[in-house]
Amino acid sequence: MQKGFWVLVIKFETTSYEQTERFGEELAKSLKEGDIIAMDGDLGAGKTCMTRGIARGLGVTSHVSSPTFTLVNEYEGGRLMLYHFDTYRLEGEDDFIASGLDEYFGKGVCVIEWSEVIEGLLNDAIKIRITGSGDARVIEAETRNAIRASKISEAVRKAGLALL
Ligand SMILES: Nc1ncnc2c1ncn2[C@@H]1O[C@H](COP(=O)(O)OP(=O)(O)O)[C@@H](O)[C@H]1O
Ligand SMILES: [Mg+2]
Repeated sequence: MQKGFWVLVIKFETTSYEQTERFGEELAKSLKEGDIIAMDGDLGAGKTCMTRGIARGLGVTSHVSSPTFTLVNEYEGGRLMLYHFDTYRLEGEDDFIASGLDEYFGKGVCVIEWSEVIEGLLNDAIKIRITGSGDARVIEAETRNAIRASKISEAVRKAGLALL
């Protein structure tokens, strides 16, 4: 997040894979063309899990798998296109741009796993950080947009979860 700007942080917990997926599903219902969801968290944190929920919420019916070896997977059939990135193997922003991946931005919904690698390109994204172990996860969503923040809070509530 760019320094010198306020951000709104929405923090909540999940205690199962299903709950994290369900939040993604509710979040997806409020997403618009061009929205970018930047996800970070260790391997096994639940980034792909939440992306599956986002896919479901958009109405994508095909199975969402990790794009680790393909850089980006494209899913059609939903209310908006879903572009699912994994930037783990990229060197940084220059590498991302040289690969032509920035051309997806502005189209459909872009979800990026390991987004830290290209942080400088993501000033307008919804940032999601997932931490935790066992079945417990603490999820923090950050945005600079107050309307979006209220929609994220609403998604938490609709998923049957409580804000921390
Ligand atoms: N509360 C939870 N939310 C999401 N995943 C969870 C949770 N508790 C346990 N898990 C497990 O954590 C793993 C998350 O995997 P995945 O979504 O592929 O992570 P990532 O994409 O961040 O590497 C799955 O094995 C899932 O069953
Ligand atoms: Mg993953």
